[in-house]
Amino acid sequence: MLQALDFTGAILSLGTMTKDHPAELLLAWYDRHARAMPWRVPPADRRVGVLPDPYHVWLSEVMLQQTQVKTVHAYFLDFVARWPNIKAMALAPADDVMRAWAGLGYYSRARNLKKCAEKVWFAHAGKFPQTAADLQALPGIGAYTGAAIAAIAFDEPVAVVDGNVERVMARFWRIEEIMPQGKETVRIAVADILPAGRPGDFAQAMMDLGATICTPRNPACSLCPLRPSCRSAKAGCAQDYPRKLAKAKKPQRKGAAYVLRNAAGAVFLQKRPDEGLLGAMAGVPTTNWTVRADGATGIAHAPITGQWRRGGAVRHVFTHFELELEVWTLDGVESALPDGWWVPVDKLGEEALPSVMKKVIAAAIPAAFSSSRTRGRQ
Ligand code: ADE
Repeated sequence: MLQALDFTGAILSLGTMTKDHPAELLLAWYDRHARAMPWRVPPADRRVGVLPDPYHVWLSEVMLQQTQVKTVHAYFLDFVARWPNIKAMALAPADDVMRAWAGLGYYSRARNLKKCAEKVWFAHAGKFPQTAADLQALPGIGAYTGAAIAAIAFDEPVAVVDGNVERVMARFWRIEEIMPQGKETVRIAVADILPAGRPGDFAQAMMDLGATICTPRNPACSLCPLRPSCRSAKAGCAQDYPRKLAKAKKPQRKGAAYVLRNAAGAVFLQKRPDEGLLGAMAGVPTTNWTVRADGATGIAHAPITGQWRRGGAVRHVFTHFELELEVWTLDGVESALPDGWWVPVDKLGEEALPSVMKKVIAAAIPAAFSSSRTRGRQ
């Protein structure tokens, strides 16, 4: 339910787009303090109206959906070096894209990235649609990402609301609704102070402000350009917003993972099914750990019988649950195993292994990823 907030009245009392208008204050701050990111246009170009490459904006926004800016940097540069434009990505083998994505997590994003590139290349003549509404029809582009691409790459004046923006607006207006349920109120609040021009800079300014000044803990209100009209700063209660419910403990799940090694010490990997968690990614064989709190453990479910050794347990936190995997190892395997391949330990770093699989293998073979040959990604 929308909260009755007097956004318009408050803004009018600030003056419509004078230099004291929050959007103007924020843009002036952004011109001085914008974080440098490889997908952004340099400040000097931005001032003369240069917009960033839509391919770069799309790629970075998909990568940033669940991942921090500092992690995305290296992946973004790697991707644009391999696939400099939408055509290259559309024509790339899907396995190569999945491999390059390994370690970024949430692998459905990589599958959708590839599908989206194909759709833009084959169905849209290589040009991204230019509005949030049309962008949302593409694979992997939801309300947030559609609005972000439309504003940043195409200057569409739309409200872009991510977690940072939600926090900045909840504090600015003292929005009492619980977040993220109150997101629609935030969207209206943002739309209300949207500047006439530079919607992409405005969106990114709000994100940068949330990431560097209006931080979840200990916001640096004294440095904030929005302080003059921020309701919670005025009342000294910024820290109390956004209103949130106490976090529920994540469900706990269990399973077992099986590290098979042949006489040469190589490790057996399989490609996981295309759909579902870690879909199409490589990994060691496991029980089905995605459904049950009391999931199957032990060696009863191992792919072959033998003198299995039990190692430690590995814990991994996914978005919707926490997983504990028992790690079992079998050495000197001679049997032919279907649907997989053997990888020498010093080549494991070149495989598209999700973080949880790296943890499992490292638990069985502590030196597996310590070599400089590995890419060192998480
Ligand atoms: N988070 C998501 N997109 C972003 C962007 N363009 N700039 C900063 N942080 C972001």
